[in-house]
Amino acid sequence: MPMPIRPFAALSALGVLGAFTLGAGPVLSQLPVSVPGVTEVPPPYALDFNEPMPTGVSPELTAEAVSITQQFVGTLLPTLQLAIASGGPVHAIEVCAVEAPAIAARLSEQTGWDVSRVSLKARNSSAAAPDFWETTILNLFDQRQRGGEPGASLNTAETVSGQFRYMQAQPAAPLCLTCHGTDISEDVMSALQQRYPNDMATGYLEGQIRGAISLIKDI
Ligand code: HEC
Repeated sequence: MPMPIRPFAALSALGVLGAFTLGAGPVLSQLPVSVPGVTEVPPPYALDFNEPMPTGVSPELTAEAVSITQQFVGTLLPTLQLAIASGGPVHAIEVCAVEAPAIAARLSEQTGWDVSRVSLKARNSSAAAPDFWETTILNLFDQRQRGGEPGASLNTAETVSGQFRYMQAQPAAPLCLTCHGTDISEDVMSALQQRYPNDMATGYLEGQIRGAISLIKDI
């Protein structure tokens, strides 16, 4: 049975989540991460900075990954909200199509990590198709969400074949359902079909795991 993982809860207990919606991200060196020890746990791990880190999971790299993830969400979400407020959801589709990959590319360049979004039901199939590890973790996220864990608290980290890998689940909030839900307006649907003829990313209910932010760093 996978253990619940609560890094955001842990981070918010540490008082570093203030930057979450500002896009600034916490300054890494200020993260009060301590390493009480390491422990053998099968993946996905319980990434709680107050608990011993699992074997092979670097607390420093985990903290860096959490920060980059916060910067991604903290930049994209306000952009999306602004685009919807200023031009409506059809306009926001265009913004999302340009801005989401641009933010991922910029963060990758700035940080040296490979930053992307992945999904078991991709909209942008050329960018968001998960690899084997990501597929495994996305399925585990789904299982846990169905088991009652809040999606926002689901993440995991692991060192795989010389790479440090981190994933943070992205649950569908009410806002997301405009473009990912079960009751999508006709104009939004036709704009989506035009741009993404193979779109699989509709039909979600609130709380379900829409996808994840996935980070990779060669170590
Ligand atoms: C205005 C419409 C719109 C809204 C609202 C929206 N999305 Fe999306 N979403 C898109 C589009 C368009 C893409 C494809 C972007 C691209 O081309 O990379 C996408 C892609 C994604 C992806 C990448 C994986 C994939 O399927 O391509 C994730 C994850 C995602 N959205 C999650 C969310 C979440 C979580 C929310 C709510 C916070 C949300 N979206 C709200 C339009 C939207």
